[in-house]
Amino acid sequence: MIAVEQIEMSHPFYKQEQDLRNRILLRPIGLPDHGWEMDDHKAWHFVAVEKDAVVGCVILVPLADRGAQLKQMAVETGNQSRGIGRMLVEALLTFAKTQRLQEIICHARDTAIPFYLKSGFEIYGEPFLEVSVPHHHMRIPL
Ligand SMILES: CC(C)(COP(=O)(O)OP(=O)(O)OC[C@H]1O[C@@H](n2cnc3c(N)ncnc32)[C@H](O)[C@@H]1OP(=O)(O)O)[C@@H](O)C(=O)NCCC(=O)NCCS
Repeated sequence: MIAVEQIEMSHPFYKQEQDLRNRILLRPIGLPDHGWEMDDHKAWHFVAVEKDAVVGCVILVPLADRGAQLKQMAVETGNQSRGIGRMLVEALLTFAKTQRLQEIICHARDTAIPFYLKSGFEIYGEPFLEVSVPHHHMRIPL
């Protein structure tokens, strides 16, 4: 069974979250391990867990004006297309509503846009490059 948990950085699953992000998000585009942890201390962390192993993760970083940014969304390669990403986004959106947040934005890699569209996000603004990877701005009002 897969369950989504919200964790603190002191939780042992945080190390697995870091490992997952290194393998799925950073190394494939040539970034150093632990290169995108600057927002971790102020973020809410969500992990998908199966048999005590973190198989997916995402963080939510609060912004000004009751908004927040979804970041660092990753699902273990062998576990993609099993609905884990969707479970993570649903848990994050449910949590965001309890915080009375009004909008979630994200910088979506173009390859992940169909996934975010299916989760209810919409594209806005102009396309852009982030660490040389094509992205679009996406958002979902709450
Ligand atoms: C993008 C990612 C998080 C999606 O997670 P996932 O667990 O594979 O997605 P799910 O199985 O929950 O998919 C939910 C829906 O989105 C669709 N979907 C997911 N990824 C897709 C893709 N790349 N292209 C088209 N559709 C996609 C699924 O088919 C599914 O549709 P359905 O409900 O009609 O069956 C995952 O593939 C991943 O980690 N990719 C590599 C890292 C990455 O790109 N992260 C996002 C950075 S912005």
